[in-house]
Amino acid sequence: MENTQHAGLIVASNRLPFTLTRKADGGFQVEPGSGGLITALLPVLRDRGGVWVGWPGTSEEIDNIDALLEEATRKSGYRLRPVLITEDERRKFYHGFSNEIIWPLFHDLQTLCNFDPSYWRVYQNVNRRYAEVLAQNSKDGDFIWVHDYHLMNVALELRRLRANVKTAFFLHIPFPPLDIFVKLPWRFQLLHALVEYDLIGFQTLRDQRNFIQCVRTLMNDVAVHGKGRLLTLRDSGRDVPVGSFPISIDFNAYVKRATGNEVADKAAELRKILPNRQLILGVDRLDYTKGIPQRLEAFRNALMRYPELHERVTLIQVVVPSREDIPQYYDLKARIEGLVGEINGQFTRPGGWVPIHYVFRSLEQSDLLAYYRAAEIALITPLKDGMNLVAKEYCACSIEEDCVLILSEFAGAAAQLQRGALLVNPYDMEGVADAIYRAFTMDITERRARMRRMRRAIHEQDIFWWVDSFLRAAIAKDLSAFPLPEDYVPVNDIGGMSL
Ligand code: F6P
Repeated sequence: MENTQHAGLIVASNRLPFTLTRKADGGFQVEPGSGGLITALLPVLRDRGGVWVGWPGTSEEIDNIDALLEEATRKSGYRLRPVLITEDERRKFYHGFSNEIIWPLFHDLQTLCNFDPSYWRVYQNVNRRYAEVLAQNSKDGDFIWVHDYHLMNVALELRRLRANVKTAFFLHIPFPPLDIFVKLPWRFQLLHALVEYDLIGFQTLRDQRNFIQCVRTLMNDVAVHGKGRLLTLRDSGRDVPVGSFPISIDFNAYVKRATGNEVADKAAELRKILPNRQLILGVDRLDYTKGIPQRLEAFRNALMRYPELHERVTLIQVVVPSREDIPQYYDLKARIEGLVGEINGQFTRPGGWVPIHYVFRSLEQSDLLAYYRAAEIALITPLKDGMNLVAKEYCACSIEEDCVLILSEFAGAAAQLQRGALLVNPYDMEGVADAIYRAFTMDITERRARMRRMRRAIHEQDIFWWVDSFLRAAIAKDLSAFPLPEDYVPVNDIGGMSL
């Protein structure tokens, strides 16, 4: 690696922020991706320059791939570097190890795991490939920020390559409790790989605590120091800070877009089509962690126990297609569609009210924001979630501050929003049904007080706060300038429970 004086920033994630897709004429085009991480990190990279390393969205061989990616970011000041993997590697690394093992296990759903040993071998190989591309594109002293569960082995592989860089890791999904983590056949290898990073970040204190408990129990030679939001692991003379950094959204950008004419017109149109009722909104990727069937059952329960809701509420459930190649995901789609059909069949008034409007597709951003603006109530009830940014986006778009958020206590967002949201246990069908009724009947004064509290927290700790506090922890190992909001309660302390 070449020697220069200035440390550069290099981001690594499973996918690049741009995707290569085939055009009608057979050639390839580069299309921008979307999502919170991209919104947060691209301005930082534009500002400081740097490199983003990831999978370009296709395993096909493309002769001019570097030129295509170069062209996409020509005037931006940062570069994109692809990690090329075969279709078979992609299947075992992404669908297999990442999404049939780590994803269900880390969401406490160990019975859904497929612990195929070949997945682990390919996961290691692909992480090594990422490390090689990172080493080729970094210089001494650079800072490499690795994102998410697909890339937990990268720091270890960089060390094997003797790359003289600083590394940090942020886990976007939950970290499970010890008794679930120990089910992983490669539990020791994975913990040792994580401790190779120079900073490890989690979404919430709950995840940080779970990780620390695993380290204390499974790694005899590693000591834990400190308390609170930034702890330190001492491993063979190295100090590794471990912190919690709740990810967020670009609050001001959401407010700006939500108040634009296009969104206002679309929201008014929705209200016109579905008049004289409160709209309840669910928006989720197709994923068994999101608790969609349980939510539909809770909605059915509410309609059965509170007949005054009939014709006065409509549930709009948006499901965004995702990971459909994995068997559990297409089974889930069939289950959701069966339930929607059943519930509508049970309650629909011919020629009139249909209780559930079901949308299965990706939405244009203006359509999504119109749903946020039109709905009086959001019903966000994942069985477990790292954070859940839909909850934060919905609050940002509640410009009049008159909407109600019903939120799972197992979403990371509950730690920050628990004093404004109606918290529910997504497995408690009657509890969720009662919360729906409570939201429906909540007066405007209470709605405003609750929503204002949540919007303030999201505004103060927005996505830029998240980036700043993470980089500050990496560089200065100090978070005193970035306190968590006063409202913050670790998720597992809710109601005095010790989960
Ligand atoms: O929440 C974790 C995450 O990997 C996000 O980063 C991503 O947007 C989402 O899940 C969907 O993931 P995938 O890349 O598998 O479609």
